[in-house]
Amino acid sequence: MNQIVVVIDFGGQYAQLIARKIRECHVYCEVLPWESSREEILKKDPIGIVLSGGPSSVYEAGAPTVDPALLKAGIPALGICYGCQLMVHLLGGGVMPAAADTAREYGRTKTRYDGTCPLFSQLPAEGISWMSHGDYVKTLPEGFRVTATTEHCPNAGIADPVRKLYALQFHPEVRHTEDGQEMIRRFLFDICGAAGDWAMEDFARRSICQIRETVGEGSVLLALSGGVDSAVAAVLIERAIGKRLHCIYVDHGLMRKHESEEIETYYSTLSMDFRRVDAGDLFLADLMGVTEPEEKRKRIGADFVKVFAKEAASIGAVDYLAQGTIYPDVIESGASGGHVIKSHHNVGGLPKEIGFRGVLEPLRVLFKDEVRALGRELGLPERIVSRQPFPGPGLAVRIVGEVTGEKLRMVREADAIFREVMDRQDMTRKPDQYFAALTNMRSVGVMGDERSYLYTVALRAVCTEDFMTADFARIPYEVLEEASRRIVNEVSGVNRVMYDITSKPPATVEYE
Ligand code: XMP
Repeated sequence: MNQIVVVIDFGGQYAQLIARKIRECHVYCEVLPWESSREEILKKDPIGIVLSGGPSSVYEAGAPTVDPALLKAGIPALGICYGCQLMVHLLGGGVMPAAADTAREYGRTKTRYDGTCPLFSQLPAEGISWMSHGDYVKTLPEGFRVTATTEHCPNAGIADPVRKLYALQFHPEVRHTEDGQEMIRRFLFDICGAAGDWAMEDFARRSICQIRETVGEGSVLLALSGGVDSAVAAVLIERAIGKRLHCIYVDHGLMRKHESEEIETYYSTLSMDFRRVDAGDLFLADLMGVTEPEEKRKRIGADFVKVFAKEAASIGAVDYLAQGTIYPDVIESGASGGHVIKSHHNVGGLPKEIGFRGVLEPLRVLFKDEVRALGRELGLPERIVSRQPFPGPGLAVRIVGEVTGEKLRMVREADAIFREVMDRQDMTRKPDQYFAALTNMRSVGVMGDERSYLYTVALRAVCTEDFMTADFARIPYEVLEEASRRIVNEVSGVNRVMYDITSKPPATVEYE
């Protein structure tokens, strides 16, 4: 059994990020909703408790809270932002709304740390922390002292070392707080006595057990996209229930060169039931004459559901539908009510007559790089684990305008060349995504002695943290030159290559 730290979730998007930072320190942790009873929390036998941030104010009627006895149980606790205010409020201190122009602080804030507090013992006396709060701690509960201050916030950090209660008004879990991870590390190791006994293999083991428990003797259906998330979910579930996992891979004919064959080859080696459905003709027929980007996406989504549902019906009754949902998808769908970019991957649009007992989402709490680490742990091949993001509607959104078989051939070949050239380069910072797209532009060229009037390929390479914003990559001219020369020579129908030097925003990564 691993040691465990419990993160109590007070809403907002903070709790999972804290959990992730704790996992980075090799300490197992679970996020529990604030409604959990004291008994439920204590039953976990945590070595520490973290009270997360959240959007509420502690003095609002019905504001999220915890049983104050939890803070008196002798377990080390760390309150962060709302969690800090709640700790103060529950222990008899005072929390006030900040006047708009004084104690209210948002963003990067110069902060002074008291090095005698274990959280800051290894840090410089001053650093930048990330503040985001409308309330502040006015008076400290008995036994507490100040451990960090900012210009407007005299109580940015407070602690009662005797009871091992620590609280920070700022967010150590966000990367804008310099040394935030170090503060979390010190809380875990110096205050909670963590041993750092957790690793990704423990996540895999636990999750396989949970899947077995949930599914029992039942069966599971999973739509494979070829991407890393559904691949890792598939392998995890396969380890748990083997042949009772049915995976359907709908090949919509819009994948990159050799991709479907590679997918089929890999999955066929596993012990689950893998089915590849070749539906390229259907998708292509339904895309004929369609030029409007959203209409293209909608048709692809609808065809996908149609093919998937038909194939699922041929399997017969299944008990659970599995999805490779990861934590950023959860945020995205919650925050924006299901942003359109994910519509294709979400098979939640399946007809109601396919009845399931439930949905399995084993990666729901993980971030992308953790999913990759888990994939490596499970022994997935590197080409799947480190696969670049690829849009659900595939090459259709990398062909501007109507999709035809001929255009698919051009973009597929050009893309394979560009990626091959890029993959060979030894760059200090490889772009996070690179591909070729086919513009709808034809232009005049001269090949041999002949005039040509052919298509233009756009090369795209971006560097990004999260794909919400992205910078075009500064790749060497020699690389562009090689890709351009080969594409024009080897891909018939193309006589011009451009490199896209637009960032996101204002452009997007994909073309449609
Ligand atoms: P955009 O074009 O929105 O792309 O700047 C941001 C990132 O998302 C990927 N993308 C998609 N992924 N289904 C997906 O699963 C989609 O429909 C989709 N559209 C864009 C894109 O490749 C980039 O990494």
